[in-house]
Amino acid sequence: MTVSVFIGASVDGFIARPNGDLDFLPEGAGEPHGYDEFIGSVDALVIGRKTFETVLGLATWPYGNKRVVVLSTQPVDLSAVRGGVVEQMAGPPAEIVAKLVASGAHHLYVDGGITIQGFLRAGLVQRLIITRVPVLIGDGIPLFGTLPRDVRLHHVATQHYPSGLVKSEYRVAA
Ligand SMILES: NC(=O)c1ccc[n+]([C@@H]2O[C@H](COP(=O)([O-])OP(=O)(O)OC[C@H]3O[C@@H](n4cnc5c(N)ncnc54)[C@H](OP(=O)(O)O)[C@@H]3O)[C@@H](O)[C@H]2O)c1
Repeated sequence: MTVSVFIGASVDGFIARPNGDLDFLPEGAGEPHGYDEFIGSVDALVIGRKTFETVLGLATWPYGNKRVVVLSTQPVDLSAVRGGVVEQMAGPPAEIVAKLVASGAHHLYVDGGITIQGFLRAGLVQRLIITRVPVLIGDGIPLFGTLPRDVRLHHVATQHYPSGLVKSEYRVAA
């Protein structure tokens, strides 16, 4: 099993404004920077309840018929999702990964700040692909948080794009 993160952040490390606004991200996610190839390689997404709420507000469900697992400690109304394959889970990240492995998943995409932080703290993330958007927003929802110990990263590659996006891939050291 591989667990990956693919996310956009301001240069000062925020994935959304304090109120959840994403207006600082380039429109339409900016020029192609590998998202389609990445999402094509994953079996399932694991997203936090707050990210799910943002996604529900989009005009169309963006994940097609890809399996999506929404994490929440509370019952989540999934009925608003039209045409998607969505289920809810809760619990320690290791249990969630174990359930998904048991149901045949090989590559998970974990999304949402709190959710990513939980999987990182549990030592369950193997790949981080972070696209820095050339802006400082000063305050917001952070991509990263506290850790029980350092997480060493190996730099795999960095690409930059004409709009100023800088995408870096890291492998989490064993
Ligand atoms: N820039 C980008 O590329 C990008 C990508 C994704 C998201 N975002 C933005 O980031 C914001 C959301 O991020 P966020 O950090 O606030 O929250 P989040 O990670 O999306 O959601 C956090 C919630 O997920 C649930 N959760 C997480 N881990 C769980 C677990 N192991 N078991 C049970 N429930 C669990 C909890 O829900 P309950 O409180 O219901 O228990 C928790 O409050 C949104 O504004 C979204 O648009 C930006």
